Amino acid sequence: MDDKKKSGRYERIFEQLEGLLQKPGNAISRMATVVAVLSHKMDYYFWTGFYLLDDGELIAGPYQGPVACQLLAKDIGVCWAAINRKETVVVPNVHEFPGHIACDSRSNSEIVVPLKNRSGEIIGVLDVDSTSFSAFDETDRVWLEKIVGLLE
Ligand code: SME
Repeated sequence: MDDKKKSGRYERIFEQLEGLLQKPGNAISRMATVVAVLSHKMDYYFWTGFYLLDDGELIAGPYQGPVACQLLAKDIGVCWAAINRKETVVVPNVHEFPGHIACDSRSNSEIVVPLKNRSGEIIGVLDVDSTSFSAFDETDRVWLEKIVGLLE
């Protein structure tokens, strides 16, 4: 997808989510809504979902796509890297990422965006996988950070 088309689509999704997300609402329902809209509208998304910190563990939250790991081994893989680095991680080729946890061998690239609470503490991540290599770029990072920001 070219960059202009991608930005336009994210802009419409952002506006739609601004209207859909109940405030204060329920955190899980709000995450489920974000996942539903993104995975339905973005055709290069293969797996879309949240992993949430629970007692120091990272467990699957609302997601759409093939069945994924329910628990991610601590400090291993892309999701934990985003949490430990406290920033978005874009991986053009997951097979080259040390410790990448392959929940589904069809995933080839990935973006993981930290999710924070109102106090700025990281409470989980939004993880999106694609079967294409290098599917995610700066446009995805900027817009997904804005979208995840709606949940803070
Ligand atoms: N790729 C993740 C694991 C979760 S799946 O992508 C759904 C990781 O290495 O953290």
